[in-house]
Amino acid sequence: MKTALVTGANRGIGLELVRQLKAKGFDLIAVCRESSAELDAESVRVESGIDVTSREDLAQLKGRLGETRLDLLVNNAGLLRSSSLAGIEDELDDWRAQFEVNSLAPIRVTSALGDNLASGSKVIVITSRMGSIADNTSGGHMAYRMSKAAVNAATVSLAHELKDRGIAVGLLHPGYVRTGMTGNTGHIDPDEAAAGLIERIEELSLDDSGSFHHANGEALPW
Ligand SMILES: NC(=O)c1ccc[n+]([C@@H]2O[C@H](COP(=O)([O-])OP(=O)(O)OC[C@H]3O[C@@H](n4cnc5c(N)ncnc54)[C@H](OP(=O)(O)O)[C@@H]3O)[C@@H](O)[C@H]2O)c1
Repeated sequence: MKTALVTGANRGIGLELVRQLKAKGFDLIAVCRESSAELDAESVRVESGIDVTSREDLAQLKGRLGETRLDLLVNNAGLLRSSSLAGIEDELDDWRAQFEVNSLAPIRVTSALGDNLASGSKVIVITSRMGSIADNTSGGHMAYRMSKAAVNAATVSLAHELKDRGIAVGLLHPGYVRTGMTGNTGHIDPDEAAAGLIERIEELSLDDSGSFHHANGEALPW
């Protein structure tokens, strides 16, 4: 049986990825800071108490996994906070927090669990089209956009780093999804987003490692 690890698994898109990957036959490792009734109801392995921005927590997670091989690592945990030009000095902690969670954590988690990946494994970073510079036609959300653009840049390097080990890496935008992050506004629900993301994960190969796609299959501009 294949094993998938998903971060931010207690709610939103991460919870739905857990449900649908489980239905596809994966053994799940659902990573979160604190579990939820919905996640507990899935009866999967839950690794709680893990803040993806904490070095100690990532070492703890690595210790709990031991030698477990991960066929799929989904870096899904993310953070959206307001960030405005006028408010930057007062909001600086929020700007930095988004960089910690959205830009650094996916790379830190992948580094911490690097020995659990092997040839044929896939690493996914759930990014956002808001990290696309070419696609930025409306402005706003400076910190979130910066943080996702930064993770996009780093993930392309990650794809190069992991290619020789036979590990494919993908950057996926889930769509505009009704979750806590968006105040439950959006175009689609998490089940539709997760279904599209899983289709893209199944399609991902070493040949298009480092690519940036919408869950609906559209290739996104940088
Ligand atoms: N919803 C959208 O329209 C949309 C669009 C584009 C991209 N995305 C991306 O999709 C991913 C999932 O978003 P979502 O909509 O499902 O958001 P969400 O409902 O707000 O869920 C965010 C998840 O990230 C976790 N998280 C945040 N900070 C963390 C930390 N320091 N350590 C560990 N976990 C942390 C949260 O855990 P807690 O419960 O502990 O806070 C939660 O599980 C994110 O990367 C987001 O940027 C979403």
